Amino acid sequence: MSGPLILSIESSCDETGIALIEGERRILSNVVASQVAIHAPSGGIVPEVAARAHLRWIVPVLDEALADAGVRVEDVDAVAVTHGPGLAGSLLVGINFAKTLAWVHDKPLVGVNHLEGHLYAAWLLDPGEGEREEPVFPLVALIVSGGHTFLVEMRDHLTYRLLGQTVDDAAGEAFDKVGRLLGLPYPGGPAVSRAADAAVRHDAAFPRAWLGDSYDFSFSGLKTAARRTIDEARAGEGLPTGRAAEEEPEARLSEAAVAELSWGFQDAVVDVLVTKTIRAAEETGARSIVLGGGVAANGALRSRLAGEAESRGLPLIVPRPALCTDNGAMIGAAGARRFAGGERSTLALDASPSLPLARR
Ligand code: KG4
Ligand code: ZN
Repeated sequence: MSGPLILSIESSCDETGIALIEGERRILSNVVASQVAIHAPSGGIVPEVAARAHLRWIVPVLDEALADAGVRVEDVDAVAVTHGPGLAGSLLVGINFAKTLAWVHDKPLVGVNHLEGHLYAAWLLDPGEGEREEPVFPLVALIVSGGHTFLVEMRDHLTYRLLGQTVDDAAGEAFDKVGRLLGLPYPGGPAVSRAADAAVRHDAAFPRAWLGDSYDFSFSGLKTAARRTIDEARAGEGLPTGRAAEEEPEARLSEAAVAELSWGFQDAVVDVLVTKTIRAAEETGARSIVLGGGVAANGALRSRLAGEAESRGLPLIVPRPALCTDNGAMIGAAGARRFAGGERSTLALDASPSLPLARR
């Protein structure tokens, strides 16, 4: 295998990820130190705690990534790093680390947009995987994460036209919130997904916000409806509701009710995401569909979109779940494209907490 060797660093949120990527697509190593256990007791990310954990783990993660790939920092062609969007303190740890490596080893530095990383996860090849065709342009991509929900059109590499985005909460945020309301462990997304898989009855109905013909999304109404429905179910089981429920976390709904409500909520989210993505693909004449971001690890979303895409003869590219959630490899895939296109960042690279991928 030839092509540039990229060392890539991701620290925008609560995962410290470092990878080595060769020839723009091939993962040589991809090490992620997750902070889930650190943030679980508070039920959410505490930014300063996250930044300190990145500081604690970034050197061991680098050592492991280099050892796994069997390379030295001297061998790499460039250092790529997430510079936004994300939590400022978390971003600064990765950026400063990347700058230091680039300066000490005299390597080019490439700043990467985190969302672009989620998109480029679709191009990645695992270490032992055979060659696979690249996603074909023009394509439509749905990126669904804890902080973002958006549909974009790509007619070529590194160019994006924003078709739609959330007007309130991100899809992952809604999963996390409903998980908390159901008394499920942090993070809510995977827990709601597991609970939904156990549902026997599939008739819990939650509202869908279609927002007319637009490609935008809204999940705040669904969240409110979920809160009301969960309270009704709790009252039905003689449990405290509303504020009182928060003070008695051990008074949980029955497993059957949690499963049924998780399924109903997930079905509403998946329905809207899949319907709009397919419509966008058809209306823009897309030749393939890409799905990415942490919520793309959701089995129901993956299988429903796969079915709808297949019935229209549209190839769907979805990275395996570990490449959908935050990791360094996706930053390497996007960074390698930027590096190949001649892009270089200076050592003045700064954290951009609300960096947009593309403007409308
Ligand atoms: O992309 P990501 O790792 O971090 C951000 O950039 O935000 O996404 C994290 C989000 C969280 O909201 C998490 O609950 C959600 O992705 N998530 C899931 C699943 N796995 C992770 N949501 C639904 N089903 C899943 N299986
Ligand atoms: Zn992410």
